[in-house]
Amino acid sequence: MGNLDGKVVVITGAAQGLGEADARILTERGARVVMTDINDERGEAVAKDIGADYRHQDVSDEDSWDELMSHINARYDRLDVLVNNAGIAVIANIESTTTQQWSQTLNIHLNGTFFGCQRAVQLMKKDQQGGSIINMSSVVALQGYADYIAYAAAKGAIRSMTKSIAAHCLAKGYNIRCNSIYPGSISTPMVHAALAHSAGIDFEAAQDPEALRLQLGIGEPNDVAHMVAFLASDEAKHINAAEFVVDNGMSSVVRT
Ligand SMILES: NC(=O)c1ccc[n+]([C@@H]2O[C@H](COP(=O)([O-])OP(=O)(O)OC[C@H]3O[C@@H](n4cnc5c(N)ncnc54)[C@H](O)[C@@H]3O)[C@@H](O)[C@H]2O)c1
Repeated sequence: MGNLDGKVVVITGAAQGLGEADARILTERGARVVMTDINDERGEAVAKDIGADYRHQDVSDEDSWDELMSHINARYDRLDVLVNNAGIAVIANIESTTTQQWSQTLNIHLNGTFFGCQRAVQLMKKDQQGGSIINMSSVVALQGYADYIAYAAAKGAIRSMTKSIAAHCLAKGYNIRCNSIYPGSISTPMVHAALAHSAGIDFEAAQDPEALRLQLGIGEPNDVAHMVAFLASDEAKHINAAEFVVDNGMSSVVRT
């Protein structure tokens, strides 16, 4: 028994990294989790391991959202929580970013989150059930990062879009909360690739990635997943349009 007993939860990009950690913790707490991803082999393996449902989905494909929500409606007749987590990191600055990189990044992060929020509101408002939408932004939305121009633009837009969705749902009396999370550096395949690029650290080849993680002072996926689990729960019923930084001070503290 857990504080998410029976809640129907969709988590995008759940095959690995933060999404996988979310799926594992929310399932442990009693949620009925539907994981989606484009990496079907890994997504299906994780879903089997934790007793979750898995669906193939490219979040940037609008039709995939209609198909997913039809499935959720038919199978569960409700949606309590959506975690818009899927993403990619394109490492490029204002001078080097190609139009293709710009479009791909915004399509996945921003359009994907928009499509998800729009479809979730439609389903969550049904029968006045209400719900919780959790959008994954980044500390990159809070500060300047030269090498992530498209990613920063998308994550910054997710920040303001989240508040506007919350404002709409409040005005309509839908009882749908919409909050955003700002992770710092967390040990996932995305960050391993970024660190390998920027600092020449090869996590895959490292003898002990956990030791490297501790040495670099970066977080672990469950640090974010616990925040997701809280925002998904009824214990967070008065928390709305809010921003949660999970970065051990990275974006606020000047280290001396
Ligand atoms: N790890 C961090 O330090 C960190 C920091 C800030 C924000 N974030 C955000 O958290 C989220 C998860 O990041 P992560 O570190 O776990 O990354 P990750 O690369 O480890 O996992 C991302 C997952 O998203 C999936 N995905 C990619 N494109 C997709 C698409 N079009 N449709 C569906 N699924 C798709 C991938 O297959 C993968 O399973 C992302 O939105 C990322 O921007 C991560």
